[in-house]
Amino acid sequence: MTTASEVRRSAVARLREAGIDSAEHDAAELLAHVLGTTRGGLALVEALTAPQQASYERLVGRRVAREPLQHLTGTAGFRHVELGVGPGVFTPRPETELLAGWAVERAREVTGRPPVVVDLCTGSGAIALSLATEVPGATVHAVELDHAAVEWAARNLAGSGVHLVEGDMADALPELDGRVDVVVCNPPYIPLEAWESVAPEARDHDPALALWSGDDGLVAMRVLEQTAARLLRPEGWVGAEHADVQGAAAPAVFAGSGRWSDVRDHRDLAGRARYLTARLAR
Ligand SMILES: C[S@@+](CC[C@H](N)C(=O)[O-])C[C@H]1O[C@@H](n2cnc3c(N)ncnc32)[C@H](O)[C@@H]1O
Repeated sequence: MTTASEVRRSAVARLREAGIDSAEHDAAELLAHVLGTTRGGLALVEALTAPQQASYERLVGRRVAREPLQHLTGTAGFRHVELGVGPGVFTPRPETELLAGWAVERAREVTGRPPVVVDLCTGSGAIALSLATEVPGATVHAVELDHAAVEWAARNLAGSGVHLVEGDMADALPELDGRVDVVVCNPPYIPLEAWESVAPEARDHDPALALWSGDDGLVAMRVLEQTAARLLRPEGWVGAEHADVQGAAAPAVFAGSGRWSDVRDHRDLAGRARYLTARLAR
């Protein structure tokens, strides 16, 4: 009989050899998934049955081939919610939790009426679901162009009260023009030429429409700037994630149009430029 800790140690070694930085974490997550427990619960497991060991080895093999961990477990945690994810939808990233938190704070500042919030490029629905969960009473709309992603979002947002729209953010939600308090967006932002530098988990498993955005990675940001200006009330807020190398170029899309005040960029805990925010001028 093989003990759980032996099996796990050998999985960590295989994952490390495959170049996976989070080998310890991923080995534990996959084992917890196979055993129907949590990572904390693994301390109580001494041995695996043969079928459990076989399932685990298969999943570790798929992770070694750089399938995203979240595709193997079928879920991704994001702030206080769990999203179903898999082929056809962008896997929500921890770094986007910062932008979502900023949007939650801005929505909570609205007084005297329910805040109206729009999550453009919603993907799995991660930001929209966080807003609906953390700002009770908010009216939340979510927009997504890719039909496969819309199907994931529809499942994740079922029962949340979020109004999900399939379509291009460029002309979405015309009925809300000038009425929105907060527009939030994690658009595609990787320059086409950066293909080589993108991790295989993203390059081979996130949908192309979720990643690439023209030669400079800012094509979708320019569309967002126009759409946010159309949707927002005067003094309404927009927040958008961007690549760490776009800490000057992405805010410049907003500053350069002359329509915005308070344009600023925000860094993550590691000091990387992460998202911009701006306020529609009166
Ligand atoms: C980087 S992913 C972000 C998904 C999700 N908001 C998140 O943070 O996990 C970008 C998403 O934008 C969608 N998208 C790209 N262009 C779009 C457009 N013009 N209108 C609406 N959605 C678009 C993609 O299909 C993808 O789901």
